[in-house]
Amino acid sequence: MNKTVYWVLGIAIVIQFVRPDFQNPKVDATVALNTDQEVMGILKNSCYDCHSNETKYPWYHNVAPVSWVMSNNIVNGRKALDFSNWANIDAKVKLERLERAKQLVNIEMMPKNEYLLMHKNAALNSEEKKRLEEFFDSEIEHLSNS
Ligand code: HEC
Repeated sequence: MNKTVYWVLGIAIVIQFVRPDFQNPKVDATVALNTDQEVMGILKNSCYDCHSNETKYPWYHNVAPVSWVMSNNIVNGRKALDFSNWANIDAKVKLERLERAKQLVNIEMMPKNEYLLMHKNAALNSEEKKRLEEFFDSEIEHLSNS
């Protein structure tokens, strides 16, 4: 084998030692989002892996550098919007995120493309998009009136 191959293999092995810490914080049912079953199903299938403490980890979650990308998405996703911490999100912030969620789902920026590559069934069909939009709207209305 030529030297380049050894280098590539060597690097591929060495980077495996840099492991992100994948942990799901406990879900507190008293603050987690709990709404209509259909909406919950859609959110769990398309958003919860990055926006909740109920992340499901695929077998490749420990393989660098994919693991680094995943860890980043989970950490930043939870920071941006955490359905497991729903009741604790400040009303103003929540309104802003809901408006943004509506837009992002509409222009197909969420769920993220890189995620859809490996989670084909997380893509939202038009029916699911509509259902989510109704949910976001009803939450927005509820918050605006309180
Ligand atoms: C692969 C992980 C992943 C999935 C799946 C995902 N998101 Fe995100 N989302 C992120 C990350 C990471 C961010 C932080 C900002 C960024 O990097 O774009 C984010 C940000 C957001 C924000 C905040 C944007 C802002 O500007 O404040 C909203 C709202 C959002 N996502 C909604 C959703 C919804 C709704 C779904 C499901 C339909 C979803 N996301 C699915 C990773 C994900």
